[in-house]
Amino acid sequence: MKVLCFGSLNIDYTYTVEHFVQKGETLSSESLQVFSGGKGLNQTVALARAGAEVYHAGAVGTDGGFLLQLMKEAGANVENVAVLDEVRSGNAIIQKDKDGDNCIILYGGANQAITREQVDRTLRQFERGDFILLQNEINELAYVMERAHEKGMKIVLNPSPMDEKIPKLPLQHVDYFLLNEVEATQILRSDLTEDINGELLAGRLLEKFPSAAIVLTLGEKGSIYIDKKEKASQPIYKVRTVDTTAAGDTFTGFFIAGLLKRGSVKEAMELAAKASAIAVSRPGAAPSIPTLAETSHFW
Ligand code: RIB
Repeated sequence: MKVLCFGSLNIDYTYTVEHFVQKGETLSSESLQVFSGGKGLNQTVALARAGAEVYHAGAVGTDGGFLLQLMKEAGANVENVAVLDEVRSGNAIIQKDKDGDNCIILYGGANQAITREQVDRTLRQFERGDFILLQNEINELAYVMERAHEKGMKIVLNPSPMDEKIPKLPLQHVDYFLLNEVEATQILRSDLTEDINGELLAGRLLEKFPSAAIVLTLGEKGSIYIDKKEKASQPIYKVRTVDTTAAGDTFTGFFIAGLLKRGSVKEAMELAAKASAIAVSRPGAAPSIPTLAETSHFW
């Protein structure tokens, strides 16, 4: 089974700071590191390192050659990534504090230059039953979802970063939602009259999208899976936090790869929880993502 990740590729500029910069403040950083990142790239790398047959589609500028190289080295096919002359690669300015938490500013760059022609050309190479994994860092997302649905591909959506475009997408086509509590709450916004816990939240999402499977991540509280036949929950593996960047992307990639390889939701959740714990214990986005072998030996 092929997995196509149609998503962003970013150059991450990670500044280590004592605290996140405040309004009106000028703050010196302790260090600057440059990493390969972008939610799309990170999820592709996670899928590939977890052993899935993964294809990445997206766009970079001529400054993005090392992003393609990293995905190739991980084992992904990058033939559907356009290299554009007239625009620079997407980038992220990341502040990382002493607890390993972050705040991110995105510049879309080439990620926002996806054309319908590129979408059509890419999707022609995939078939009914192949998986397509999407996040919210490229343009033409609704078009990609409509075309992928027409082909009978399984649509996996990680609606991140959440913004006003997400509720307008054809969410009824989504087969798997992988999301956190904030994202789930915003998707359900008009249906929610009170604050509810993670389990109820996942249940409400399933009521709204009954043919989908929901994978809800709850930070320290682990994660929950629910579809119309099955429910599962998974605690986190506790590690010393170095950098949380790409932990969610690692979870997403390993969950999908685990599901495809092992067919068991419970095993896929456990694998994803282990891999994301390893990612949290290491610096950077894509470089922090473990291999399957590392994940199997870690515990
Ligand atoms: O999810 C982490 C990613 O978000 C970073 O790599 C950054 O590029 C942003 O897209």
